[in-house]
Amino acid sequence: MTFDEENRADINIWHSDHLWRQKPTSVELLLADVCPATGGDLIFVSQSAAYETLSEPVQAMLQGLTCVQNLASGYQNLKWGSRSFREAMARSPPVEQPVVGRHPVTGNPFLTINESYCERISQLTAIESDAMIRMLCQHSTRPDFMMRHKFAPGDLVIWDNLATQHFACSDYYPERRVIHRASVEGDQIRCIASVDSDVHSDDVECLGGQSNTSETEATEVTLKARL
Ligand SMILES: [Fe+2]
Repeated sequence: MTFDEENRADINIWHSDHLWRQKPTSVELLLADVCPATGGDLIFVSQSAAYETLSEPVQAMLQGLTCVQNLASGYQNLKWGSRSFREAMARSPPVEQPVVGRHPVTGNPFLTINESYCERISQLTAIESDAMIRMLCQHSTRPDFMMRHKFAPGDLVIWDNLATQHFACSDYYPERRVIHRASVEGDQIRCIASVDSDVHSDDVECLGGQSNTSETEATEVTLKARL
């Protein structure tokens, strides 16, 4: 992917990749080729740390809840009007994800709430949902959950897409950046029922369950700003 003055990746927003799919990608990889002298950093926050540092009453309330994640949600105020992108959104109906997922490798809980794709928490009223999403997004992006990577040519950055959110700084124009991207297929996110017990999502259903929406086919769209 090449970004420059004429082809700007000018969206700065926190997100995890592909949470709008029933099966989001598990691992993401970026290989830097051409880097600007300054800018273009990639910032990460830990969605596991964010969950672990919530108060126990809030953790207990979130366990078992589900949220609606929608590709179109994060783009509704943008001017991206390309035909291919509109078609991609049409092929990608909203999906239901657990608010607290269980990591498929570590078993640790992580938050799926993000300001990009998360439209609402299904079991709450609209006012409650808006306030909870706003609070969780603010909490997740605290500086003490962050690490920041400054790219140099040849850098290969690999990250756990489920346990983190990232933010691509689009602050280097008119300089140019060329970067290569690969994604590893993931599985459906399982909810975690209790952090303090051995009871996990295989044993306890999330409230509301999973969406009846059929699995969205992997959409071949360049989400160019969402590196
Ligand atoms: Fe991304």
